[in-house]
Amino acid sequence: MKICFIGTGYVGLVSGACFADLGNSVWCVDNNKEKIDSLNNGHVPFFEPGLQELVIKNYSSGRLKFTTDLSMAVKNSDIIFICVGTPTAKKNQSADLHYVYKVVGKLSACINKFKIIVTKSTVPITTGDKIERIILRKNRKKLFEIVSNPEFLREGEAIRDFRFPDRIIIGANNKKVTKKLKSLYEPLIKKGAKFFVTSRRGAELIKYASNAFLATKISFINEIANLCEKTGVNVEDISIGMGLDQRIGGRFLRAGPAYGGSCFPKDTKALTVTGKLFKTDLSIIKSVIRSNEKRRSFLIQRVQKILSNKIKNKRIAFLGVTFKPNTDDMRESSSPSMISFLIKRKAKINYYDPSGEKKEFSKLNNVSYCNNLKEACKNIDLVIIHTEWEEFKALDFNKLCKKNKFKIYDMRNLYSHELMKKKGFHYYSIGR
Ligand SMILES: NC(=O)c1ccc[n+]([C@@H]2O[C@H](COP(=O)([O-])OP(=O)(O)OC[C@H]3O[C@@H](n4cnc5c(N)ncnc54)[C@H](O)[C@@H]3O)[C@@H](O)[C@H]2O)c1
Repeated sequence: MKICFIGTGYVGLVSGACFADLGNSVWCVDNNKEKIDSLNNGHVPFFEPGLQELVIKNYSSGRLKFTTDLSMAVKNSDIIFICVGTPTAKKNQSADLHYVYKVVGKLSACINKFKIIVTKSTVPITTGDKIERIILRKNRKKLFEIVSNPEFLREGEAIRDFRFPDRIIIGANNKKVTKKLKSLYEPLIKKGAKFFVTSRRGAELIKYASNAFLATKISFINEIANLCEKTGVNVEDISIGMGLDQRIGGRFLRAGPAYGGSCFPKDTKALTVTGKLFKTDLSIIKSVIRSNEKRRSFLIQRVQKILSNKIKNKRIAFLGVTFKPNTDDMRESSSPSMISFLIKRKAKINYYDPSGEKKEFSKLNNVSYCNNLKEACKNIDLVIIHTEWEEFKALDFNKLCKKNKFKIYDMRNLYSHELMKKKGFHYYSIGR
């Protein structure tokens, strides 16, 4: 099929490359010329495992093409996926839809024959209705259908998630269109992905409700971890014991720092705004947002306590700054607020992240990027493990830190509490 992705970020580029790999002819469009030039030169401008290879393979075969020319790409495609960002608005907590509407504004002029226009971007309920009204103003013959097909891939696992999704959700009010999209997704359905069709508004809400529910699970176990710390119980036992109940499930029950990333924080906030708009009090989600905010300060207070409130001149190795492993995405990671708190109190931070140096810290005094763990941990007073990268899971701390007394704060529970104590480390973790 001839398809086109508008917005070549984590969602648009991964989906575009994966659909090309299934044999479709794909245009990927972006208004960021630098990004498109980079892709046309065979370089993926962000880190997602396996994506570079997949892009090169499909670009070389001619199935995957990159352009800034939205009109040309849309005219040459039958199905158009909108994959631009929907961050939190500056003025309130709603989703900022101006990127979406900018694209929509351009689409009406490019509809030369029947098009299926699909929102893959996460958009609040009724956005599809508004998009339809906007395009109808200029395309009175209605040579198009607006569909919602929310995306559930996770950064760091995006290609696997595309190829083996739990479910494909289609929100459409037209059977013919649903059939066409089902045939596009057929290779994934054959491998076991569930294909679920609902109304357009239903699909829009499924995405927000799913993210809010996962965020709730994380905040829930984080609060239980706080209770474990006070009562001498291991939160991991609680997660396992709860997770063995199939009604609950063990995933997203790992205690750690506040949830971050490009989706949960913005989507939970946007959903409460939708609730307000429709005069529905989403009190659980509001309290999850509050709990997550508190989580940020809670862990910082814990760092203060570990250092006996003597932060000045302490040398701290910060391992991992991204919100999760296998991505270079810093959006809403809890590391910037933690690091800025520590340097305000005159700590000296060495940070290391396998995905490289981050612009967020480049102008900060007393924050240095280190090229490897050895450099980051040498003569350090405290090691903070912030992100769960594989590389951090079997460290020889004595060899790395080269100091008599140092402390370790493992925010991801990567090490056995008992073993670390037995080895004589000053080791602190979460909820145990
Ligand atoms: N990142 C994720 O893990 C993930 C997962 C599921 C859903 N989503 C949702 O998917 C959407 C996209 O997320 P993302 O992380 O891929 O965003 P992103 O910021 O990585 O990419 C968005 C891209 O859109 C481009 N863009 C903006 N305006 C444009 C325009 N007018 N024309 C062409 N291109 C334009 C930007 O230059 C950018 O490259 C969001 O709504 C997000 O909530 C993201």
